[in-house]
Amino acid sequence: MFPTDRPRRLRRTAALRRLVSETTVLPRQLILPMFLKEGATEPVPIASMPGVVQHSRDSLRKAAVEAVQAGVGGLMLYGVPLTHDAVGSGATDPDGILNVGLRDLRAELGDDTVLMSDCCLDEFTDHGHCGVLGDNGMVDNDATLRVYADMAVEQARSGAHLVGTSGMMDGQVGVIREALDEAGYADTGILAYSVKYASAMYGPFRDAIQSQLTGDRKTYQQDPANAREALRELALDLAEGADVVMVKPALPYLDVLRAVAEVSEVPVAAYQVSGEYAMVEAAAANGWLDRQRTILELLTSIRRAGADMVLTYWAAEAARWIRAADR
Ligand code: PBG
Repeated sequence: MFPTDRPRRLRRTAALRRLVSETTVLPRQLILPMFLKEGATEPVPIASMPGVVQHSRDSLRKAAVEAVQAGVGGLMLYGVPLTHDAVGSGATDPDGILNVGLRDLRAELGDDTVLMSDCCLDEFTDHGHCGVLGDNGMVDNDATLRVYADMAVEQARSGAHLVGTSGMMDGQVGVIREALDEAGYADTGILAYSVKYASAMYGPFRDAIQSQLTGDRKTYQQDPANAREALRELALDLAEGADVVMVKPALPYLDVLRAVAEVSEVPVAAYQVSGEYAMVEAAAANGWLDRQRTILELLTSIRRAGADMVLTYWAAEAARWIRAADR
């Protein structure tokens, strides 16, 4: 055996391991998704996402400030409206719950954090789809784009720094970019959910937004079997003006994330979704996994695969752990 055949040499002490560690997970790289429930007077727990709540306006402001103090890089806001209709009117209403929440957070936090908003209709439609339906019952791509354009402008007006296009309609980034520019919001950016799979991992999220969806999203979200079309979606979103691109979910698609990160010309985000959260929480609650070690390992793996930033329901908690470990 040659001396160079001993990779364990660099693992011998904590100081050596720290010196040669390649991948960082820093608080500023974590983005906290948050839910605001219309009419709520106190936080409402989400059964399938233990530890995550539907916020009231007051609790949202408070939790947002705490997350920013913990060092997170940004916040992604979802609205849970009281009423739903076929076209998702609450999404374009200036007084719709998501826009109200954005104004609250912008008033509270100004430019101290990066405020992001979900620009998608599923929270607001009575059928639960991400767009409006055509006569054939299918989601009508181009009719949906017209609603997204108005929705994005309202979110920009309400204080979003980045509008998150998560609906997987063709052309959504280009149409929204044009609408924002025309309305005077050339400085509002687009976080493009470029690569989004039709995943079982969104199950608990449906609980979180009390979605009415029956059926599935397979006519607009991607087939988990396909990697190639991820690069096609990426190229389209870059050409249409995406400022940040995202791959979602994260853990089951680390190969896709890596492929996207290798060629993207803009920062890459990954979304550790509700099902990824729920799996770990359930196993940890049973004593089957070490909760903190598992969470930090998963976040490290997503960063190692190439994500510049990670949307995670653990953002604030993980940020506190990372800071404490740094001392
Ligand atoms: C669509 C949207 C979804 C999620 C974020 N934005 C649901 C879906 O596409 O079905 C899922 C996030 C998660 O599961 O944590 N507005």
